[in-house]
Amino acid sequence: MLRFNNVFFKYYNSNDYILKNINFQVEEGEWLTIVGNNGSGKSTITKLICAQYEQQSGDIFLYNKIYNLKNLDFIRDNIAVVFQNPDNQFVGSTVEEDIAFGLENKNISQEKMDDILLML
Ligand SMILES: Nc1ncnc2c1ncn2[C@@H]1O[C@H](COP(=O)(O)OP(=O)(O)OP(=O)(O)O)[C@@H](O)[C@H]1O
Ligand SMILES: [Mg+2]
Repeated sequence: MLRFNNVFFKYYNSNDYILKNINFQVEEGEWLTIVGNNGSGKSTITKLICAQYEQQSGDIFLYNKIYNLKNLDFIRDNIAVVFQNPDNQFVGSTVEEDIAFGLENKNISQEKMDDILLML
């Protein structure tokens, strides 16, 4: 389902690679925990999975679709992040407001949004 293939990543302001030759695969329904020292690159891997950053070399695949600009919408539709304290992730004070926020971010038209919110 999710696959890292020989991934190398460094931040633009750094000479050293933070991630060197990262290889792993996660299958549907499988849980994977990444553990490591502070600064070892766990959050950086998460940002690559979200396509927030782009690796310098190697490939990342989601359902066999390679991470590239063309597949960005597909990746964003299928990857979600839950923060350590999920309460901080609520932006609205009601379920309706929170769902509307997500729909706005996806550029859903007001008309379509009204239909979706009516289903709540
Ligand atoms: N925006 C950035 N620019 C430059 N270097 C960064 C940036 N973000 C993180 N780093 C560096 O990349 C390395 C990996 O950081 P990362 O945040 O991925 O580690 P982590 O394993 O999530 O750490 P922690 O356990 O503290 O959350 C660290 O050396 C960090 O200083
Ligand atoms: Mg971190």
